[in-house]
Amino acid sequence: MVIQTFRTVRDMRAQVTAWKADGLRVGLVPTMGGLHAGHIALVQSALAQTDRVITTIFVNPTQFGAGEDLDSYPQTETEDSAKVADAGGHAMFIPSASEMYPSGFSTRVVVDGLTDCLCGVTRPGHMDGVSQVVTKLLNQAHADVAFFGEKDWQQLAVIKRLARDLDIDTEIRGVPTVRDDYGLALSSRNGYLNAEEIEIARKLNVVLKKAAYDIAAGGFAIDECMKAAKALMKAGFDKVDYVECRDAETLELIDKADGRSCRIFAAAHVGRARLIDNHQVN
Ligand code: PAF
Repeated sequence: MVIQTFRTVRDMRAQVTAWKADGLRVGLVPTMGGLHAGHIALVQSALAQTDRVITTIFVNPTQFGAGEDLDSYPQTETEDSAKVADAGGHAMFIPSASEMYPSGFSTRVVVDGLTDCLCGVTRPGHMDGVSQVVTKLLNQAHADVAFFGEKDWQQLAVIKRLARDLDIDTEIRGVPTVRDDYGLALSSRNGYLNAEEIEIARKLNVVLKKAAYDIAAGGFAIDECMKAAKALMKAGFDKVDYVECRDAETLELIDKADGRSCRIFAAAHVGRARLIDNHQVN
């Protein structure tokens, strides 16, 4: 199935403007491609909640650090577009790097506080790059609602905050993480893993669920649960970036269950992949 593809901001905006003039609500699904069932769930959520859905593909260089996988990130535009078309999406926006960052581009977007922890620390500059490109995509599309996966919980929190702080008139909605039969959160980077590494990767959600259960059940200090979770992860993963219990909204570190809504966040490396996941505690 063929899907309409826009490559310039001007053409994409003209379509959104036309849809809106017809009274249609527009949904935006920003992605970096390498689409899997988790991305298609975003498209399906958007289709269920809006009338017209634009899926974007842009492998944003500013959110990759030195030595990260920018050059090997999956580039599967044809397959991705076919998947979105099959799901019922209405259009793709696939801009070039020069369309997104024209010569002389010099504006940064930094969300303080929420980016001072987790991936904001272990991947320096990553959250600023995400904030920059998402601000641009939101401004370019002027969609009514934009959809982001809850696997990237910190990213979702940062995007909600920047949209609020910058008066961006697009509602930001999270979509639950899609997992394989063993609970592994789907990620474009799972494709880097061999069979043995996938088995290790699948332990991540098991460890998080156990820690969340132990904290919610009471009787276990949060830092003890985090230490135990880290030890379990260290037994399989090549490197553990963090395992932390934080407030679900402010991302403040939580050391005692005090009725606040909290989540456990983890990031770890196995093989060529760096995986992240998070789990609700209560
Ligand atoms: O989650 C992603 O795929 C990316 O970080 C996003 C939001 C599309 C920005 O490049």
